[in-house]
Amino acid sequence: MGGPHSNHLHALAAAGRRFGLRTVGLLRGHPQDTPTVQDLLDCGMALHWLGYGGYRERYQPEFWAPWQARYPGFHCVPEGGGGLLGALGCAELVAELRQPLEAFGWGDYHGCWLAAGTGTTLAGLVLGEAGRHPVYGALAGPGEHAVAATVATLLQQAGRDDTGYRLFDASRRGFGRFDPELVRFMRDAEREGGMPLEPVYTAKALMALREQVRAASLRLVRVWYSFIPEDCKGYEAQIWTPFCKRSLARVPLKPGERSGPRRVAGRASQAPTVTGPRRRQPPPPATGLIANASVR
Ligand SMILES: Cc1ncc(COP(=O)(O)O)c(C=O)c1O
Repeated sequence: MGGPHSNHLHALAAAGRRFGLRTVGLLRGHPQDTPTVQDLLDCGMALHWLGYGGYRERYQPEFWAPWQARYPGFHCVPEGGGGLLGALGCAELVAELRQPLEAFGWGDYHGCWLAAGTGTTLAGLVLGEAGRHPVYGALAGPGEHAVAATVATLLQQAGRDDTGYRLFDASRRGFGRFDPELVRFMRDAEREGGMPLEPVYTAKALMALREQVRAASLRLVRVWYSFIPEDCKGYEAQIWTPFCKRSLARVPLKPGERSGPRRVAGRASQAPTVTGPRRRQPPPPATGLIANASVR
């Protein structure tokens, strides 16, 4: 379940298509046609729009009963893929993170940096690290207490102490809010790194990481890059239409840079477009990619 731009639903629908699983999405609000919603439908996900009131009931104990009756045998996944099962799934990412270290010439790393929304992924990495390395969560929204409470609950449910991580505020103007400095950082980072970012989580997390590196509080960290490039489409529409017209117009373009939807250098096949006919893209990876972020 999630909103009409939900990365979680997008990833779930893509996984359903890839692994041949039927998926059902429960969406916040009333029917909308967003790039994400189009992709959910293309992936074969059945959608139900709950309205806003209906969505607010998602924490009620009886919420899932009618859906379980309607879709017997389905596994009910909480909003954002949260919950203990979600965290335990993310614990396995640590092994995935370690695999390519040698190729990067890294004997080890000092910590793991990632974007935090609900804190479920962070809790998973804390479980997977089991005290070997600290985990740093860059908060995409202003709710430090809510995230800390979620992480504490998940660690407690897993039988672990509430330690091994630190949260940093990366929310800037608030969840889902973008400012010119962020967008400029995103553009530069994408151009230099050749890797697409999105502004809600990954760009904010990297920007906050840069601040910490500049403040010399961190040295060698692995970054969990939680973004599936296909998801860009929804954000492109959000950034380059209302936001771009209002705020971004004030951000001067660098020589050779063109206005309008970005294309990421060297990644044209994955670059999203806002307008024009929809092209089918290769299926996205089942999980996020690992960014080689070597920071000294
Ligand atoms: C790209 C991306 N990164 C990070 C997160 C945050 O994950 P979590 O809710 O597990 O903290 C999300 C959540 O939707 C996401 O879409």
